[in-house]
Amino acid sequence: MTQSGEMAVTALRLGAVLIDAATISRRVGELGAEISTFYEGADDPLIMVCVLKGSLFFTADLGRAVTIPVEFDCIGVRSYGAATVSSGTVELVKDLQTQVTDRDVLLVEDIIDTGSTTAFLVGHVSRHRPSSLRLVSLLNKPERRSREVVLDFKGFDIPDRFVVGYGLDHAEQYRNLPEVRLVEGA
Ligand code: IMP
Ligand code: MG
Repeated sequence: MTQSGEMAVTALRLGAVLIDAATISRRVGELGAEISTFYEGADDPLIMVCVLKGSLFFTADLGRAVTIPVEFDCIGVRSYGAATVSSGTVELVKDLQTQVTDRDVLLVEDIIDTGSTTAFLVGHVSRHRPSSLRLVSLLNKPERRSREVVLDFKGFDIPDRFVVGYGLDHAEQYRNLPEVRLVEGA
């Protein structure tokens, strides 16, 4: 907040489309097939965990692209606030509701940047002793990694630029864009 009480959010302008909606949709279909083949024949349904809020739309689309039995849960973390650079601190704001012990768990992430969020989530979920814990992310920014992350299924590698859309926000806006876009001024 500024002294006058307004929200101090840097103005951003939407830039070029980095990944269009048709390309996202095609890749999500491929990931759904890949994940289905990987888990086919498992004893229990896969638990797909949507990492709120960035992977809302990705989880919804990927969930409908898999053909194996699946359950859904959500986990909430906060890492960025309204800034476009990672603060490095991750806070749990909503825990799982499902008992994941001895189950196959797939964390569904929007983007892996420094890896801090994922490292935190893997540590947190592992404590419940799932029989397996794997990771899918729509986007991956390999240039900024500071924590080692094993990405089992990946949508797209992207350059170190701030992006919005298809779930990704800037100060909570632009999540509903159907494509992934660059922003000017980030
Ligand atoms: P990490 O902890 O640095 O890997 O950051 C992961 C989280 O930061 C993601 O789940 C996003 O919420 C956010 N984030 C990282 N890069 C971007 C971006 O380019 N646009 C929007 N959010 C981002
Ligand atoms: Mg965010």
